[in-house]
Amino acid sequence: MKTKAAELIEQEIKRRGPMTFARFIDLALYHPTYGYYSRSVARRGRSGDYFTSLQVSPLFASIFADALSAMRDQMDSDHFHLIEVASGGGEFLETLLGLLEREKKLKGLHVWAVDKSRAARDLLFRRLSRFPKTHVVSSIDEVETVGGLEGCIFSNEFFDAIPFHRLVYTASGFRELWVSLKEGEMVEEAGPLSEGLQGSVDALGAVSFVKGQQIELRPEAESTMAQWGSLINRGFVVTVDYGYPREELFRPDRLKGTWFCYRKHEAHERIFEAIGDQDITAHVDFTRLARAGLPSGLQPALFCSQGVFLSHVGRERIERVLANPPGGTLPGGNLKDVSSSIQQLIHPEAMGEKFWTLIHAKGIKLPDLFAGIPNRLRRLGCQLS
Ligand SMILES: C[S@@+](CC[C@H](N)C(=O)[O-])C[C@H]1O[C@@H](n2cnc3c(N)ncnc32)[C@H](O)[C@@H]1O
Repeated sequence: MKTKAAELIEQEIKRRGPMTFARFIDLALYHPTYGYYSRSVARRGRSGDYFTSLQVSPLFASIFADALSAMRDQMDSDHFHLIEVASGGGEFLETLLGLLEREKKLKGLHVWAVDKSRAARDLLFRRLSRFPKTHVVSSIDEVETVGGLEGCIFSNEFFDAIPFHRLVYTASGFRELWVSLKEGEMVEEAGPLSEGLQGSVDALGAVSFVKGQQIELRPEAESTMAQWGSLINRGFVVTVDYGYPREELFRPDRLKGTWFCYRKHEAHERIFEAIGDQDITAHVDFTRLARAGLPSGLQPALFCSQGVFLSHVGRERIERVLANPPGGTLPGGNLKDVSSSIQQLIHPEAMGEKFWTLIHAKGIKLPDLFAGIPNRLRRLGCQLS
């Protein structure tokens, strides 16, 4: 049976002709009523469609709480703004703010949880309302700061959730893949680039492609990073996501690109199935993201794997938890469970090297806590400062 989202997409194609995959994914994930992320809070965890680091262990948010405190000390200002974009179910902020509350570090902290999904915002209100100066909004445009933002914009798995265009390399250069209808069924077909996409193709620079190679492009990721840069007066942007430096992302052996659909923990390519009832995602081009903030003053400052970041910044915290696991009746609280969730976050073959941490800074240096982290910025073609 066709989903409501599928019916809407078909109607639009009948009315206006073939649509880009960016438009298709936007409707499938974010249609205000029938989109995957609008119908319910991101379905993560064992009973959902996929895991993010936040369901693996509260250590992820706890270590970022330490990182945030170090950034705040570095800023040495009475007021610090923390904006989490794509807060989903709110696990990150709930853990982080709970910890800072216990450490009596909430004073002067202003927090915004941003999520475009109504269902997510309802849950965020419930989970975060006990914390002072914490707001839940649908867009970063609603964040109000007087005299520019001083603080940090954080996101985990936000950029991979931005809709993307799909392209194929041919003898005459790149063509875009469009969603069309054939005998009443959705099909993909190659056509000219949609309006405005040529600039994104030109910016690929000297990467070489093989005929038939498919790639994804997300111009919205760059404009978003540039917008964040212009919002920040002084501070940091911390991005955690899966992806690669450009040369690796567009390796010719990734002939079909990196996109996938996720449903009930199965990764598959049946993109025209269960529309609005499954996630659709693709890896992030960290080279592009690193440079996207430059015009608005965001300087790429650190790029390392999630595993390296967590194990450096969180070394003491991890040692403490392993020496004294929460235990008792807490689910996952015994030593075996705790060490396996740490492995899951940090081990290169689990999430440790699949996910990367990119930090931009504007008008401020990185805190000393991050000194000694092997910095892979050169892999993104950026200078180490
Ligand atoms: C993959 S989930 C990640 C949720 C959470 N950060 C985590 O790691 O579990 C992506 C989230 O991004 C939200 N989202 C997508 N585009 C957004 C936008 N432009 N502004 C705010 N939230 C957005 C979706 O509603 C969804 O909750």
